[in-house]
Amino acid sequence: MENVVSGIRPTGNLHLGNYFGAVTSFVKMQDDYNCKFFIADWHSLTTHPKPEDIQASTNTILAEYLACGIDPEKSVVYMQSDVPEVLELYMYLNMNTYLGELERVTTFKEKARKQPDNVNAGLLTYPTLMAADILIHRALKVPVGKDQEQNMEMARKCARRFNNIYGVDFFPEPQSFYFAKEAIKIPGLDGSGKMGKSEGNCIYLKDDAKTIQKKVMKAVTDSGPTEPNSEKPEVIKNLFTFLNIVSAPETVQFFEEKWNDCSIRYGDLKKQLAQDIIGYTEPIRERINEYSANKELLRKVAEQGAEKARESARQTLAEVRQIIGFKQY
Ligand code: TYM
Repeated sequence: MENVVSGIRPTGNLHLGNYFGAVTSFVKMQDDYNCKFFIADWHSLTTHPKPEDIQASTNTILAEYLACGIDPEKSVVYMQSDVPEVLELYMYLNMNTYLGELERVTTFKEKARKQPDNVNAGLLTYPTLMAADILIHRALKVPVGKDQEQNMEMARKCARRFNNIYGVDFFPEPQSFYFAKEAIKIPGLDGSGKMGKSEGNCIYLKDDAKTIQKKVMKAVTDSGPTEPNSEKPEVIKNLFTFLNIVSAPETVQFFEEKWNDCSIRYGDLKKQLAQDIIGYTEPIRERINEYSANKELLRKVAEQGAEKARESARQTLAEVRQIIGFKQY
């Protein structure tokens, strides 16, 4: 079975971008691939979180992974920081990665603009750490949302360059993976491009029905179509993107027709959308609460996951050391 790896930074609760962009794929892939899903706690250090926040957030994400349907009997679930082998590979990859190419990564430029007082080396080398996460298990497929494409390109570059430098065919080039025709970008409902933590526009899996309703009813719209069959502006496209993901095809068709004959009422669309999002998240929310309360289970899952992930990581690293010319431990 092909190896699959992906991870999410523990910066609070999972939002619908994480869920539809990545976690739904994680769950679907478990039966057909050799899956490893981790919590990218090292990656979250670029913004200097407090120790107690890291603890709380990693537990939260772990409980949410399980609540979404990731099964620790089928997939390896682990904390990035439990696998120190990743760091050694990260260092080797950094030796082959150039300052210019790291500086050109869009997310680095954005972060540098947003946090000008904290443009640290971890932020710059974020893509090589991500490449190490993937290459340490020699993964072929990585389920991620559209926002990770540039990081994935860097991971492929790291694999290619290592192979070229040492004249080996050791690392496969990992590919982004998604079930839809193309990569998914879950939009924000506030008129901004994507749903994201730093955009402050998230609907969380953990949100209760009332909160979801409030957030959806506040979604930005326009004054409505004035000509039949006209092109939708971005903010309306965003609502339909959501509708396509969470609602029944008849519902989408109903509102498409209403848009096309200019009789659409955004209030009705939003009410329906809120109801359909709640239908999706309600059962998950209940399970999140159950898993969050079961600290012993969470500890066991992480412990078991760490062991399996390290076993795979050790094997890769032993070969990498040999290829580079180092003695074995
Ligand atoms: P992170 O924590 O920002 O997001 C986790 C996953 O959620 C997806 N995602 C979205 N997808 C669609 N629409 C959105 N609005 C949206 N927001 C978030 C992301 O694409 C991602 O798949 N660098 C990664 C974490 C990481 C990683 C890795 C991923 C570290 N090492 C190795 C895969 C493999 C990140 O910051 O994701």
